[in-house]
Amino acid sequence: MRRKACVTVLAATLCLALSCLAADEEAKLLPDGPGKDLVGRICFDCHGAGNFRKARLSRDDWSDQVADMADRGAKGTEAELAAVVEYLTQYFGKDSKINVNTAPLVELKTVLGLTVKESQAVIDYREANGKFQAWQELQKVPGVEGTKLEAKKELIAF
Ligand code: HEC
Repeated sequence: MRRKACVTVLAATLCLALSCLAADEEAKLLPDGPGKDLVGRICFDCHGAGNFRKARLSRDDWSDQVADMADRGAKGTEAELAAVVEYLTQYFGKDSKINVNTAPLVELKTVLGLTVKESQAVIDYREANGKFQAWQELQKVPGVEGTKLEAKKELIAF
């Protein structure tokens, strides 16, 4: 009995540590800029980066979204939340580019209009071959339709 409880506690601790680690990794992958640390601290308690990285919103809409998150329990002072809105508007605004070397699956899918399979292929390719340097390199990814990428090339960043 004791032993079973012990294993359960151990498993729970490991789980928590792993999810913290995953959040930490995801936070590091955010584009560098003022407010990044705040987003890393405030926005990963309940869900991953995919939730906001896949969005492309105006300042007003980010403001509403962040207020909604604060209602749900996101913790920050008024000034910190305002800085988070600025960061999100800058890097996940209406015309913001997508960093194809760090984007999670949902961001690749939504912003580049890829299928889930194509988005996963991009991730597999960069994991195996290192960072993309030019949008043309994405054309080498097996199973990704090149015309889709060409149409979005102005949005692609590295
Ligand atoms: C206290 C928990 C909590 C925190 C902290 C939090 N969120 Fe959320 N967020 C939620 C819940 C719950 C949902 C709705 C369910 C879901 O999509 O996971 C959500 C959904 C979202 C969505 C919509 C996703 C969609 O699919 O439409 C966005 C965007 C978002 N959050 C951004 C943020 C940002 C930016 C921050 C940091 C300021 C943040 N969240 C912090 C709980 C939280």
